[in-house]
Amino acid sequence: MNSLLIHPNTQGMKRPLLSTKFWMLAALGSVFLVLACNKTADQPATTTPTSTTPTVNVLAALNLPTTAYDYSNLGFPSFYLTNAPGPLPTSINGINNTPNNNPITNNGATLGRVLFYDRNLSINRTISCASCHRPELGFSDSAVKSRGFAGGLTRRHSMTLINAVLYQRGRFFWDERAATLEDQVLQPFQDATEMGMTLTGVVTRLREQVYYPELFRLAFGDTAMTSNRVSLALSQFVRSIVSYNSKYDQGRALVNNPGDNFPNFTAAENQGKNIFFQTIPNGGGACFGCHTTEAFVSANPGPQNNGLDAISTTDLGAGEVFTQNPIFVGRFKTSTLRNIALTAPYMHDGRFKTLEEVVEHYNSGIKAHPTLAPALTNPNGTPVRLNLTAAQKSALVAFMQTLTDNSVATNAKWTNPFR
Ligand code: HEC
Ligand code: HEC
Repeated sequence: MNSLLIHPNTQGMKRPLLSTKFWMLAALGSVFLVLACNKTADQPATTTPTSTTPTVNVLAALNLPTTAYDYSNLGFPSFYLTNAPGPLPTSINGINNTPNNNPITNNGATLGRVLFYDRNLSINRTISCASCHRPELGFSDSAVKSRGFAGGLTRRHSMTLINAVLYQRGRFFWDERAATLEDQVLQPFQDATEMGMTLTGVVTRLREQVYYPELFRLAFGDTAMTSNRVSLALSQFVRSIVSYNSKYDQGRALVNNPGDNFPNFTAAENQGKNIFFQTIPNGGGACFGCHTTEAFVSANPGPQNNGLDAISTTDLGAGEVFTQNPIFVGRFKTSTLRNIALTAPYMHDGRFKTLEEVVEHYNSGIKAHPTLAPALTNPNGTPVRLNLTAAQKSALVAFMQTLTDNSVATNAKWTNPFR
């Protein structure tokens, strides 16, 4: 399909005045779209439209750039893309879960950004996705459980959205009940506690706002507003949120292997890094086996039991989703550790207030359980005890703090576009 037919070239166009010629071309373009492309109407505009300038209506309502920010290029540094020698993969090659039918486009993610911050999309217009996924908290929430539109509490602790694109299994939520990100992003709207809407209600709210027709046109080639397009655009925005501007990254760029001492690290930070990467028989904590690659995301095998409880009672985790197999009981998704110092409290139920408490859990608190991960189980079946010294424990915390990337909260492309 010739995208020029759909997106008339208005590059030389001056804001805010739109010429009659523009509107005639736009109308003509829509006719071609309906005639030629109705089969693919919900496909993203993969060829960047040349008419990328939002109209005066949109710019008056929202703080958006005249040319969309770059979302489509995730911009990973080279060390993310090359495996360092060693037993475990360090590169992110092959783990990106972007589906072929929803690549990130700059205008698609821009629409996603507006949807993400728009409070009109909750039933009483009080909360948006960003209420529980706050950029300054690593797109997570500081509350143990988050408050929905009517003050009700979510069942579990909110999750960071950083590196969602790099979860190889491509499933979402602590218990992995959403098969894809495209499925996941429509669920908060319909959750009775979170946003209290129906998908029809969401589309009605979109129609009320002056800015949406134009944002949908820029993203998808025409102004049709559907929940499917909401799902595609929100997923693009969420997948664009990645992090590689931390102290860890500055140090990593200076050495060949993540196992080498980083010249910019303190002795304690390098010691903590060694504990994080080393196997347990070698005096480490085997953390990198599960929080893996340069993105510190989950390894492929899926949800794990990291020994929080001896018996699973009220929350069976993935055991509630994959009910045909009891080996999933007590297992939860391994989240990324990028920006972990900002996303307290920790674990699916927010039980640990600090990273010190988390480290003490792995050091001395792992509980035996029928599904406890082999990596945290001794050959005789008992849970591992790391027996770290106080200095080693604080070194491990110091290392995790090097993963803090404050640019995630200040990078304009991920900030609130509402004035
Ligand atoms: C009222 C708080 C709240 C709101 C509003 C909310 N979320 Fe969440 N979000 C959560 C909680 C809590 C979880 C974890 C729930 C679970 O696993 O059972 C979560 C999980 C997620 C995940 C899964 C992350 C992962 O790695 O598996 C994504 C993605 C997400 N939310 C995106 C969104 C989007 C997009 C919106 C807006 C449409 C939104 N959230 C609105 C609280 C909220
Ligand atoms: C067997 C795999 C495995 C190993 C090994 C492992 N983890 Fe985890 N980690 C998990 C899982 C699974 C979760 C989420 C558990 C939950 O919330 O129920 C988690 C959660 C965490 C969290 C909290 C994340 C959040 O967003 O709340 C931190 C911090 C953490 N791990 C650090 C470590 C450190 C440090 C080590 C090494 C001492 C380590 N992990 C070893 C699987 C593992």
